[in-house]
Amino acid sequence: MDRILIEGRRCLNGEITVSGSKNAALPLMVACLLADGVSTLRNVPQLRDVQTMSSVLQSVGAKVVTEGDRITIDARGFNTTEAPYDMVRRMRASVYVLGPMLARLGQARVSLPGGCAIGPRPIDLHLCGFEAMGAKVRIEGGYVIAEGEGMRGGEMNLEGTHGSSVGATCNVLMAAVLVPGRTVIRGAAREPEVGELVRMLNLMGARITGADSSTLEIEGVSSLQPIVYSTISDRIEAGTFLLAGAITGGDVMVHGARPDHMNALLEKMIQAGIGIEVLPDGVRVKPGNGINPTNIQTLPFPGFPTDMQAQFMALLCMAGGDSIVRETIYPERFIHVAELMRMGANIEMGVGEARVRGVKKLTGAPVMASDLRASAALVLAGLAAEGTTEILRVYHIDRGYEHIDAKLAAIGAKITRETGEQQPVAAATETTSS
Ligand code: EPZ
Repeated sequence: MDRILIEGRRCLNGEITVSGSKNAALPLMVACLLADGVSTLRNVPQLRDVQTMSSVLQSVGAKVVTEGDRITIDARGFNTTEAPYDMVRRMRASVYVLGPMLARLGQARVSLPGGCAIGPRPIDLHLCGFEAMGAKVRIEGGYVIAEGEGMRGGEMNLEGTHGSSVGATCNVLMAAVLVPGRTVIRGAAREPEVGELVRMLNLMGARITGADSSTLEIEGVSSLQPIVYSTISDRIEAGTFLLAGAITGGDVMVHGARPDHMNALLEKMIQAGIGIEVLPDGVRVKPGNGINPTNIQTLPFPGFPTDMQAQFMALLCMAGGDSIVRETIYPERFIHVAELMRMGANIEMGVGEARVRGVKKLTGAPVMASDLRASAALVLAGLAAEGTTEILRVYHIDRGYEHIDAKLAAIGAKITRETGEQQPVAAATETTSS
């Protein structure tokens, strides 16, 4: 198993470039199944989750070729209506195939994903959306079995108790574009990754209005055309690099960071006393005067993203006072707390929230990555900590950060990766996140 070693307390300085967005690329890859031809996606990050999605697409009959950051998907052989447990348990986003299966093949048998390291993650809203379009859905033996015969446009609301669902919005959209009639999605998720899917589908010939708003209206069409499309940059990776600069008191220019996708984070960084400069090609973080205590509450976009909560908590561990971190999307997403405390952080847990009492310094320790963003938080803490931090279960980081060690080393981090025995893929992905 690989491990990452970090010698902390080095100020990061320099320029870093953000890769394509994982959470945009995954639904875009699946959307390529909707056109009977060959589509190409560019600026796709080389990540374990992207490889897993390629395997999912291959398992349903598509041909997938990856060359660097370009993926070509030939959907002419798309003919399989099953996504087995072994596939879906590796990566939750595999359930995105439900939409295209219903729209193009008229039926689907897709494993339910089950829980994951960040808490329970049901897909009831996805299923309600398909039912609102007339699909007959039942659960049998851990599988969703959906019959799409006679599906027509329908009206639905995809806002659940923890906010609108990104996954349900994408999944339902991918069926609605090819279903006859008019579908209205209220409570649609407004995350930039959903907006990207809407834009790509429209370029393929879909008729969707309301991009980036909470109401999407879809007029079904009979077919879509293949496409060449470039993925947006990864706002979570960009935010993580900005915090890497901030936590080390460094000066880092993050090329490709989109301020319009990161407003809530940038506002909180400014409130925390971090110097931020928005430039035409990205965002630069500059040394401030220490770190102010700052309260955050995760919310659906445009609120503060749950996928930045762990990393921001790492920053707050070294603030000059107490901060409250409230998690409203995944109230159990706090596994990183115990590991940060092993590095000297002072954090008191409540229900769905944590009180972070700032400390003067963190100290390096062996720590265990538990999910993607928790791992990123440990990398940030390691960059700021005195001594050596050893991060185990690095495969979690590799699911969502492209060459994070090499990118941080290039701006002055003393970070190395030691390659150990290969982790079997099944074991490596037991605690699925995406
Ligand atoms: C997406 O997951 C992201 N994954 C997650 O990224 C991200 O944390 C999450 O959105 C929230 O922003 C991808 O884009 C591949 P949701 P998704 O459906 O779509 C509840 C990362 O680290 N809910 O928007 O699965 C749900 O439990 C990750 O990259 C229902 O109740 O999230 C949660 O509380 C992990 N019923 C809330 O809604 C449903 O049917 C938002 O979940 C669906 C969701």
